Amino acid sequence: MAAKRATAKKSAKKSVRTSAKKSASKRMTAKRAVSKAKDLSDLFHDTLKDIYFAEKHILKALPKMAKAAQSPDLIAAFEKHHGETEGQVDRLEQVFRLIDKPAQAKTCDAIMGILDEGKEIMDEYKGTEALDAGLLAAAQAVEHYEISRYGTLKAWASKLGLTEAVRLLDETLQQEHKTDEALTTLALGEVNSEAMAA
Ligand SMILES: [Fe+2]
Ligand SMILES: [Fe+2]
Repeated sequence: MAAKRATAKKSAKKSVRTSAKKSASKRMTAKRAVSKAKDLSDLFHDTLKDIYFAEKHILKALPKMAKAAQSPDLIAAFEKHHGETEGQVDRLEQVFRLIDKPAQAKTCDAIMGILDEGKEIMDEYKGTEALDAGLLAAAQAVEHYEISRYGTLKAWASKLGLTEAVRLLDETLQQEHKTDEALTTLALGEVNSEAMAA
């Protein structure tokens, strides 16, 4: 009787071990399947959705920044870049088409944070001489984020052999660089000296 119980216990333990082993191996297989499914083209697609979200929000923010700015040069720079951004959104949609995916946005917390800081400056420095310097700094933070994203996307598109996407992404990247340079020129010029004189 005692021997029977011992055997029953042993086989119960064995079956628990076997089922634990089975579920662990199931988890491993699932894990492998997930990491197998995600590759550079997925990363490219995800990042494309991220910058698409960012551009759409920048498109909404630029007119508000132009409205808040005081320097005519800064207003003109924001207005010019608003027009360019419309073209950039269009280019991103072309890239989505090239990879046979619908143009879709994915929440980008980074750009939301940068734009929120810009809003804060608009509120807190409203009517002060330092407002334009703050707006310039906020706009440059946006440009630097975009330059980082487009640089990465261009490199990945090249690795993935997406020649036309490389051309489109580079066109936007150059535009972002030029905008950043124009903002630097303004920052080094009258806008900051006005803030200092105040
Ligand atoms: Fe942009
Ligand atoms: Fe930009």
